[in-house]
Amino acid sequence: MRLQGKTAVITGGASGIGLEAVKLFAREGANVAIVDYNDKAGKEQENGHNILFFQADVANRESVDHVIRDVIEVFGKIDILINNAGITRDATLQKMTIEDFQKVIDVNLTGVFHCTQAVLPYMLEAEKGKIINTSSVAGVGGNFGQTNYSAAKAGVIGLTKTWAKELGRKGINVNAVAPGFIETDMISTIPEHILVQIKLITPSSRLGKPEDIANAYLFLASDESDFINGHVLSVDGGMMK
Ligand code: NAI
Repeated sequence: MRLQGKTAVITGGASGIGLEAVKLFAREGANVAIVDYNDKAGKEQENGHNILFFQADVANRESVDHVIRDVIEVFGKIDILINNAGITRDATLQKMTIEDFQKVIDVNLTGVFHCTQAVLPYMLEAEKGKIINTSSVAGVGGNFGQTNYSAAKAGVIGLTKTWAKELGRKGINVNAVAPGFIETDMISTIPEHILVQIKLITPSSRLGKPEDIANAYLFLASDESDFINGHVLSVDGGMMK
């Protein structure tokens, strides 16, 4: 098992990509803390063994500090942080409200900052840790109707590279995954004819599955990636090539 004895915090772990990662990490021997604001979906994933749910809004610093303290109380340490929680509030630039711009920045960018700062003291003390941030093809190349989301996800790349430089010497690896279009609730509002076009411009000719991303998280969380730092791993079927 590739994560035996490790403790992982996975934000947004109550559904979609995060949930797939929760299940995979638990199978690989990790204790997994789901941090999500969806109380009902989160609690349903608890297995009375190595998956526990902790409710928090990643955009709210107090709430994040509180649950990270709770995770430490229960599991004693945090080896892996997957900053996966995310939302969309799409509109073209002309129609986007400042509220929807700010909300997506608060969750998708500031949320990553909050969770990482809250977890960092424990990783620094252990002189070891893996932080994996979730960017997007939209953060790499921009995307129609996603001013807020693209800005946040490009910001995630910036802080990933910065933190790798700051924390690498302290035994902490910080990397990002940039998913393409993945079959979860997040893309359920995209019309079918657009999804057909997306497949046409994807060399692998299909949409991604949550497990495609969970497998990338697993590699970057495992000891196999110890010399990879500050990297943005595209998992998009070749879309951005
Ligand atoms: P999803 O909507 O299925 O799951 C997102 C999870 O995050 C949910 O469980 C939700 O409750 C949680 N969440 C949202 N806001 C939160 C907050 N403020 N505090 C705590 N938890 C919160 O979405 P999906 O597709 O699984 O997305 C996971 C990550 O992957 C996100 O960061 C997303 O931006 C990114 N991504 C997804 C792509 C896709 O095509 N599905 C493409 C590229 C990136």
